[in-house]
Amino acid sequence: MSKPKIFVARAIFPEVITRLEQHFDVQSSQRDETGSKALLIEKLQGKDGAFTTGGDRIDAEVLAACPKLKICANMAVGYNNFDLAAMTAAGVLATNTPDVLTETTADFGFALLMATARRIAESERYLRAGKWTQWRYDMFSGSDVHGSTLGILGMGRIGQGIAKRGAHGFGMKVIYHNRSRLDAALEADCKAGYVSKDELLRTADHVVLVLPYSPASHHAIGAAELALMKPTATLVNIARGGIVDDAALALALRDKRIAAAGLDVFEGEPRLHPDLLTVHNVVLTPHIASATVPTRLAMAHLAADNLIQFFTQNKALTPLNPEVLVKR
Ligand code: GLV
Repeated sequence: MSKPKIFVARAIFPEVITRLEQHFDVQSSQRDETGSKALLIEKLQGKDGAFTTGGDRIDAEVLAACPKLKICANMAVGYNNFDLAAMTAAGVLATNTPDVLTETTADFGFALLMATARRIAESERYLRAGKWTQWRYDMFSGSDVHGSTLGILGMGRIGQGIAKRGAHGFGMKVIYHNRSRLDAALEADCKAGYVSKDELLRTADHVVLVLPYSPASHHAIGAAELALMKPTATLVNIARGGIVDDAALALALRDKRIAAAGLDVFEGEPRLHPDLLTVHNVVLTPHIASATVPTRLAMAHLAADNLIQFFTQNKALTPLNPEVLVKR
């Protein structure tokens, strides 16, 4: 019997490609050509499955043009690149990579918070530019992390990881807002108190965004929300571009309506709103929150496992629309 045909949309670890080749006829984009929807559709012709990343949009148009496709395994926990309803309607299984990246991503959220609050990137740029000639009492003074109030918007697994680091490691008061309130045991574990979104924005010293992107969370932080924040507050976005109105944020940073921001994700990335590059009180990183070698490898293997289980056993480890499996 011939092997199912899959397309791996982006360069990934060679050992994961080797593993996939044991089960599939693999066409892979190891040269990492990214690009247009037309190119994706072309590459997906005749394929039974796809290994995708967060930048590969699978929508009704792609599905209609690729009728053989049965599964898209995303190497990301976020899946806003999938039109899940269209995939379910087309009988295409969607999977993601939760859990394996939780602690690594929470570490990064904290790293970005520290870098932002303590002005690490800005002071390093100053030093590298040869501007450091003497000690000054107020040079790059930032805001304290320990003992401050940490506000977490979106309290899933990663939000909880950040809450625990803040509460247990840095003695922070942790408040959170989420679509649904955590049960009492989880709240106690995270030492986190539930508040409204407005109260969180008004009272937190550091606001960290970890909520999934959806039309409902588009521009969840815009000019009005930034205006609620303390002028001394910092904002960290490790969630998704589009949750923050980047133009409004750049203005708020320029006018010092908040103290600083740390951003790992951007609207329309890898492009950036040009104004973000002109303000000094922002730390910018290129969507690397889950980027450690063991975690990225675990994500790639989990996506591969989903493809293998699907074609060999009609199941998946982390399905997003398991109803598709029942109907097959
Ligand atoms: C990264 O952003 C992910 O969703 O895994």
